[in-house]
Amino acid sequence: MASVRFPLPATGSPAQRARSLDADASPEEVVVAYHERTKHHVHRYAASLGTMDWATQPDPFRRYPGADVVRLPLPKPGRMLPYWQLYATGSVPTEPLSLESASLFFRYALSLTAWKRFQGSTWSLRANPSSGNLHPTEGYAVLPAIAGLGDAPAVYHYAPREHVLERRAILDAKSWTQLLAPFPEGSFLVGLSSVHWREAWKYGERAFRYCQHDVGHALATLRIAAAALGWRLVLLDGVGDASISELLGLSREDDFGAAEREEPELIAVVAPDLPPTGSLSLIEPTPGCARALWQGKANTLSPEHGIEWPVIDEVAQATRRSGTGRITEDIAGFPTEVELFGTPIRQGLLTAEKAVLGRRSAVAMDGSTAISRATFFRMLARLFPTRDGRSMPWDAIPWRPRIHLGLFVHRVDGLPPGLYALPRDPERLAALQEVMRREFRWQPVTTCPPGLPLYLLQEGDCRAMAAAVSCGQDIAGDGAFSLGMIADCMDSLNTYGAPFYRNLFWEAGMVGQVLYLEAEEAGIRSTGIGCYFDDSVHEAFGIASREWQSFYHFTVGGPVEDARLTTLPAYSFQEEQ
Ligand SMILES: Cc1cc2nc3c(=O)[nH]c(=O)nc-3n(C[C@H](O)[C@H](O)[C@H](O)COP(=O)(O)O)c2cc1C
Repeated sequence: MASVRFPLPATGSPAQRARSLDADASPEEVVVAYHERTKHHVHRYAASLGTMDWATQPDPFRRYPGADVVRLPLPKPGRMLPYWQLYATGSVPTEPLSLESASLFFRYALSLTAWKRFQGSTWSLRANPSSGNLHPTEGYAVLPAIAGLGDAPAVYHYAPREHVLERRAILDAKSWTQLLAPFPEGSFLVGLSSVHWREAWKYGERAFRYCQHDVGHALATLRIAAAALGWRLVLLDGVGDASISELLGLSREDDFGAAEREEPELIAVVAPDLPPTGSLSLIEPTPGCARALWQGKANTLSPEHGIEWPVIDEVAQATRRSGTGRITEDIAGFPTEVELFGTPIRQGLLTAEKAVLGRRSAVAMDGSTAISRATFFRMLARLFPTRDGRSMPWDAIPWRPRIHLGLFVHRVDGLPPGLYALPRDPERLAALQEVMRREFRWQPVTTCPPGLPLYLLQEGDCRAMAAAVSCGQDIAGDGAFSLGMIADCMDSLNTYGAPFYRNLFWEAGMVGQVLYLEAEEAGIRSTGIGCYFDDSVHEAFGIASREWQSFYHFTVGGPVEDARLTTLPAYSFQEEQ
């Protein structure tokens, strides 16, 4: 693969920017051009409509009318599994796969967690967060015959509003056996897709990025839900998008008609026990899906689309996976759990259920809450794979971390405020030192556990800077800390090709999901920040090379609740039971 480089900062006039990407460009060049063009700059945001066209607002709920619907029994609230146990691999008793356990899996991963009401408007929240609460991610499962669910293996779509599964296709026993042949006994498959239009409706060209962040968050919620049942989950990274589409029924023209299409994202295998990531794949083409009996037609999400954003289709096309090449990377040099945490965490505040279903984004931070050093270090330690390959959710993906943190520390007791760095791959320390501002101190934080590579770069009050680079959002300056997720973008694309652009966002989303739950456990809150000025973030850390790019932002701190909102239960039939 030819080596690709980032160009100089984009300075195109609005007229030039309206053009689509170069038709002769390589996939990697298309990615680079898309990333540059969808940067927010202080004086020029990425192209979008700029207003909300309420008449074309997309329905956040996909359904397949005509497909059989299986209602999942809503799990009784109050499951006592402690939150910390999610991360203590092997400590959660394995639940058998049943209607009830499948229901709990979707409840913790993708279900509604509340309805909110304000002045006559009502909207729902989910276990998985989403940029603008637009929820472009759709969830699927390929499950065996299960009592109460179906007497044959089938492909299901998960509908979160009603907590039901829609049976899209029934598979014959032979196809099922062939499909699951590469995996251990008791395995099933889950899949994710994106409806780009849902995000593009509001965010225009930058929407592809947000769809990918949301996939990353959802991949983490799926992994965490599996952990709560004593199961493992592994991304099948070598599977081609055509196979994902075929397996989930996304390529069935007749079933979509004029309805908005879904872009295939990923397939993962779930089972009580699984070999290491990178060693598993699907048989392609997927056996039996084409000849299965498919049911249901996708609903239309918007009556019309005011404006289309062709660059989203172009970057989606450029990042499609052909199904070749699985990733296997060695994590033998990573720290152990003891090195990362000092004493492994075996106690805590919340149950897993409280953290997972109670997770919320802070809409404002109080500008006063400080956290302890121990809390800060624990949150950061959760973001590392361990050398035994068992640290959750990092055991779900086969690549070494490529997302590193540039931190804006405001209020952590015992640590001076300032800029910090956390290379999430210890071997990338030198590369980060090379790429960031020469004058940075790179002083190891000696009070943290020995396996945590946390460095003080520069002391000082960086609250205004953190808010400024986050599109002026106060939440980035008013928390205890915020951060930019910086990736070796060019090296990633040159190593694994254009499709890996998606993986970088997925990893960023997973980092975000871990921080969301860790903030709940710490009694505070956090918020994903997709709106930031890309190059201002780079400047804050003195990154002049365009090989490295910021992929996501996050803030963590003491929340200010919006008392004007009324909170309603996620499922009204919850009260009937
Ligand atoms: C990828 C992503 C980007 C986000 N960007 C912002 C942001 O820039 N500013 C903000 O206030 N919230 C942001 N959020 C938070 C969402 O608005 C929030 O997740 C959504 O409203 C749903 O609320 P919940 O997280 O409480 O379920 C972002 C969330 C995600 C997942």
